[in-house]
Amino acid sequence: MTPTPQTRDLVGRTILVTGANAGIGYWCAELLAARGARVLLGCRSPERASVAERSIRAHVEGADIGILSLDLGSSASIAEAAASVGDTLHGVICNAGVKSAHRGERTADGHDLMIGTNALGHFALLAQLAPTLSPDARVVAVGSIAHRFARIAPATLDEPWTGSSLSQYGRSKAALMAIAFELDRRWRGTARSALCAHPGYAVDPLTPARDGLAPVSPLVRGLAALTGGLVQGKDAGAAPIVHAATSTDATGGDYWGPGGLLEFRGAPRRVRASDEVRSREVGAALWAAAEELAGVRFPI
Ligand SMILES: NC(=O)c1ccc[n+]([C@@H]2O[C@H](COP(=O)([O-])OP(=O)(O)OC[C@H]3O[C@@H](n4cnc5c(N)ncnc54)[C@H](OP(=O)(O)O)[C@@H]3O)[C@@H](O)[C@H]2O)c1
Repeated sequence: MTPTPQTRDLVGRTILVTGANAGIGYWCAELLAARGARVLLGCRSPERASVAERSIRAHVEGADIGILSLDLGSSASIAEAAASVGDTLHGVICNAGVKSAHRGERTADGHDLMIGTNALGHFALLAQLAPTLSPDARVVAVGSIAHRFARIAPATLDEPWTGSSLSQYGRSKAALMAIAFELDRRWRGTARSALCAHPGYAVDPLTPARDGLAPVSPLVRGLAALTGGLVQGKDAGAAPIVHAATSTDATGGDYWGPGGLLEFRGAPRRVRASDEVRSREVGAALWAAAEELAGVRFPI
């Protein structure tokens, strides 16, 4: 069992975590469940979601867990998922992400795989979840240090890309972050808020073992321990995200990440986001492009 957390301060709150069957999303879900939240695991594979659910139940006594079938690369799946959420949502953590792809790889809807999944999929999901969000709901977009090295260029968002997979990944994360900051601006004057957070550099071999999740051999775990001063486990990577989603110290428009060297590891603190992801002009243009590409209206 996970040691009893300091508080069960999230009893009565329901939080959806996308991509909760693996990695950082799993750890966000386990940490939130340990604080008493009802957690919805938004996952595309029912089998992998069940493995994660079992693991959380094995580590958190009395965990309140639900599974939401969700493929962020499919507009049909997103619409079905949004329509089937029975609970009022107090939080949504937009964590699911594709971290690398070959040029030309596409989602089920035919969008660029990383832009389509990481940014457009979450945009469409949030647009359709809006009626189920509580008046004080918090949305957290999981960004990345890589956002700083990318240009969003909303007008060409879905066009075939050149350059490296890493820079296209950074662009998809920058787009997701800019959507969250724009959402927060549109929600000003209400009690709803949107924030961004990133996990630093978080790897499986430094993460506590969980049955059925990312098995790591003892040898690799031992070797990885040598890098422990530089990077961190995915449990620690989840901390700034959970902090952004739940702390009274965090407010709309914030960006949280690890406080250590290069923001690779360490305790959560506010960190700097690029001027582009905070730009009102880029945010407005991106919103319009996302509505058009995702085929959903998100009027606020
Ligand atoms: N690890 C890092 O150092 C790092 C650094 C910066 C940012 N991040 C961000 O943190 C997030 C989690 O990263 P991670 O390292 O935990 O990655 P991970 O272990 O690869 O997990 C990714 C999760 O996203 C899900 N996913 C991918 N495509 C999906 C789709 N179409 N629909 C629904 N779910 C989908 C995966 O589900 P399946 O199991 O079905 O594939 C999985 O649950 C990502 O957004 C990533 O960009 C990570």
